Amino acid sequence: MAGLVARVLVAACVAAGAAAASPASAAGFIRVSNMRFVDAQCQEYGVSGWNGYSVLKRALQSPSDISALFAKASSRGLNVLRMFAGGEGDGVSLLTGPGPSFDEATFRALDYVLDEAASAGIKVILVPLNLWKNESMPALENWCGSAASNFKPRPDIDLRTETALNYTERMQTPYAFFTTTPCIDLVKRYYAALLARVNTVSGLRYTDDPTIFAWDLLNEPRCKYCGPDAVNGWYHELARYMKEDLGVKQMVTTGEEGFFDESDPHSSADPTDGNVWGPRSGQSFTQNHNSPHIDFAVLHLWPDNWRNPPYDTAWGKAWIDAHEAAAAAIGKPALLEEFGKNANESEISAVRDPWFQMVYDSVSASLNGSSGGTLRGALFWQWDSAGNMPRSDGGSNIRMTDSTFTNYIESFSQKVATDELSHRSAGSSVPGCTPVPLNGSGPPPTASPAASSSPAPAGSPTPSPVPASSPAATGAGPQVALLPQEGSRSAAGRRLLRRG
Ligand SMILES: *[C@@H]1O[C@H](CO)[C@@H](O)[C@H](O)[C@H]1NC(C)=O
Ligand SMILES: *[C@@H]1O[C@H](CO)[C@@H](O)[C@H](O)[C@H]1NC(C)=O
Ligand SMILES: *[C@@H]1O[C@H](CO)[C@@H](O)[C@H](O)[C@H]1NC(C)=O
Repeated sequence: MAGLVARVLVAACVAAGAAAASPASAAGFIRVSNMRFVDAQCQEYGVSGWNGYSVLKRALQSPSDISALFAKASSRGLNVLRMFAGGEGDGVSLLTGPGPSFDEATFRALDYVLDEAASAGIKVILVPLNLWKNESMPALENWCGSAASNFKPRPDIDLRTETALNYTERMQTPYAFFTTTPCIDLVKRYYAALLARVNTVSGLRYTDDPTIFAWDLLNEPRCKYCGPDAVNGWYHELARYMKEDLGVKQMVTTGEEGFFDESDPHSSADPTDGNVWGPRSGQSFTQNHNSPHIDFAVLHLWPDNWRNPPYDTAWGKAWIDAHEAAAAAIGKPALLEEFGKNANESEISAVRDPWFQMVYDSVSASLNGSSGGTLRGALFWQWDSAGNMPRSDGGSNIRMTDSTFTNYIESFSQKVATDELSHRSAGSSVPGCTPVPLNGSGPPPTASPAASSSPAPAGSPTPSPVPASSPAATGAGPQVALLPQEGSRSAAGRRLLRRG
């Protein structure tokens, strides 16, 4: 198992004393306790993360890019990657048919990414479904039969003059996808097969892998002309299915931007651009996260995409504040899992940096308790870690030489990595948190990963779901939450990282 060897090497590097702080190592699965992200031992896990572009494509074409990426992240204190497990676009598709069938090479690329992340001490938020990419949700709509439906349950809130829905409008009105059984069942089969996947590198079932921080059920849903019930019902049922029927061990959340429905008292915080598109997107931040099976609330922040001309930082701060308050009201911590600000080369410090300063100031004040807020981390969009993405397109790519990175991202990450912001004194646990067993002994449940790695064959009616009596479904039985090497690295790492 390459992963084990690499974990030992990481431990050795940490012990030798790295120049910069690496992410504080975590024991077992990350979970929520007392409104904080914590590991099995109740150590807080504040999130300083990033969104990765084309991670699967890079893993397929140039695996060494991925190890280089994680090495850079780890050395700078970044601790969570959010990536598409399906639907990153650009022709890369994990799911290839409704069986579900999968592209095995892409699945192995994902296996590899997860194992490399584990070796570097980094957690991963997986997003298996994306509304915006043809290879993802629109493909599923074709397979489950909803693509043919143009039904708009709320024509009264359609303010357009056109009567038909063109392609992009229809893409954002997938009412039948959210509400019909064949489509809901297709997603369930897909998610069951993902959780049952045995990683061909580490030997861990995905559902048993503490490298996975959480599952985003669907990136940025829309249901225009629908009202909030379609998306809300879908999120709640899929979250229930993941938790109750599949017994997923990782956290589950939505993946939405966090628009408030127009009936929500916070909807005045929504982006509008002179109309009511935010409050009528089909999302409903408060309702969508108010399920016992959703562990934490998420929001995104896109000042350029959401209005023309773009919103200013005061608006962005109000957007964050509204979500901290709404998340507090439903008793969940919040994570800003996507934010970005466009800038060309000459605008980086004057235009982009104030956004990063505002975001990290907000997260820091919430993490250290001074604001009383519920925000527990942020993941920026997007990291040009190799420094070779286009520069002058006014985009949101960030190089490691940009002031955005050196002055804001790194500085925040170092504070997280050294526990400077933790809501606890060094070495103690988050108050009110109960440690859970690590179950660190014993081999992984599957002795022969290669033999059982294949997903259901193409065309088979259903995958083998996690049986109801399996340890994964009941939470009982042996777990492989923590490999012994991780435990020692965790202790050694934390000691070294906590400097005077
Ligand atoms: C997605 O599919 C639609 C309809 O076939 C097409 O018009 C559009 O160009 C596609 N988009 C991409 C990025 O391929
Ligand atoms: C589709 O319709 C929307 C709303 O009417 C409009 O804003 C958009 O420009 C149209 N897109 C195309 C490609 O025609
Ligand atoms: C940067 O963008 C601004 C605003 O879009 C523009 O006025 C300026 O000319 C751009 N600068 C460069 C160097 O492209």
